[in-house]
Amino acid sequence: MPDNVLISQSMNTAINEQIGNEFCASLQYVAIAAHFDSDDLLELAQHFYRQAEEERTHAMRFVKFLVDAGAQVEIPSIPQPTSHFGTVEEAIQKALDGEIAVTRQINALMDLAVKESDHITHNFLQWFVTEQLEEVSSMDTLLKIVRRAGEQNLLHVEEYLARHGRLTSTPDLSQGS
Ligand SMILES: [Fe+2]
Ligand SMILES: [Fe+2]
Repeated sequence: MPDNVLISQSMNTAINEQIGNEFCASLQYVAIAAHFDSDDLLELAQHFYRQAEEERTHAMRFVKFLVDAGAQVEIPSIPQPTSHFGTVEEAIQKALDGEIAVTRQINALMDLAVKESDHITHNFLQWFVTEQLEEVSSMDTLLKIVRRAGEQNLLHVEEYLARHGRLTSTPDLSQGS
């Protein structure tokens, strides 16, 4: 690697893979959102369209990081997402499994940064570590709400989402109360 490249070749390769993983999550969420949209579960659909956008911004954070680090952006092919789900619970379980998988991927990137004493990448990845805690926690909450409501009472889930919006566990400090 030339002197002006701030990360190793193996880190560059691993981050390119992660760009693929984040785009993969984004496409999976579009598929889940469209499935709910077709079933007129509009709050669930909106929630997952929003998640899809968020995953796209995660991919873009990694893209920008590679560019800033003087590294090579090489976007891999993205596997086909699952588009058919038997139940709402099944679709949300799929989303939760995906978030747990991404958490492991971020941890593996962190392990590599530590191993390489790569403080620049280590610092950059901190944001993703915090984000994954939030994402796994809120998806787990949504799964529990769906299970509690049951497939016959999905309007409870729609009401819950309409009331609580993004299901975030982070308090909104901007309101000042
Ligand atoms: Fe993500
Ligand atoms: Fe995520």
